[in-house]
Amino acid sequence: MLHMTEGFSAIHPCVLAGLSYVSFQELATRVSHRNTGAATGDPIAEQLFARIALDENLHMIFYRNVIDAAFDITPDQTMQAVLASVRDFAMPGHGIEGFGRKAVEIAVAGIYDLRQHRDEVVMPVLRKWRVFEREDFGATGQQAREELATLMTDMETQALRFEDRRDALAARLAARG
Ligand SMILES: [Fe+2]
Repeated sequence: MLHMTEGFSAIHPCVLAGLSYVSFQELATRVSHRNTGAATGDPIAEQLFARIALDENLHMIFYRNVIDAAFDITPDQTMQAVLASVRDFAMPGHGIEGFGRKAVEIAVAGIYDLRQHRDEVVMPVLRKWRVFEREDFGATGQQAREELATLMTDMETQALRFEDRRDALAARLAARG
């Protein structure tokens, strides 16, 4: 309740950063809602979550299209905003007390983890914007793109590390019986 009354402040209070942030965040909710439904093992709950996930996808498409147009109008500024959104991404629930522990539980349960964040959320949206193919960047846009590429490589390393740790945990639990 406290979290609901506190509201949500944008990490980067500029229009382009806000719109690029929600392009990723709406897709993140789509993936996590769908996986939450599947985790319930209840067909009705699964259908409910699938319906909500469908709406989240429409929200994502709207914001993604706006940013797509922004790339054509002002590529460098948009690229810098996208970099900021990916670099500082945090779900709206991050202010909830104990969110860090919950996020780990959510990741271990396969509902939302760094691998899904990278491969099913960030990369598909970046591909749609043709971020790594565009040829209309100036110096600042190019620099932001290079930073983003490094960030995505680092994210891959962290995702692999997380998967190793999760596999090790699953093996320990299985051995315990
Ligand atoms: Fe949404």
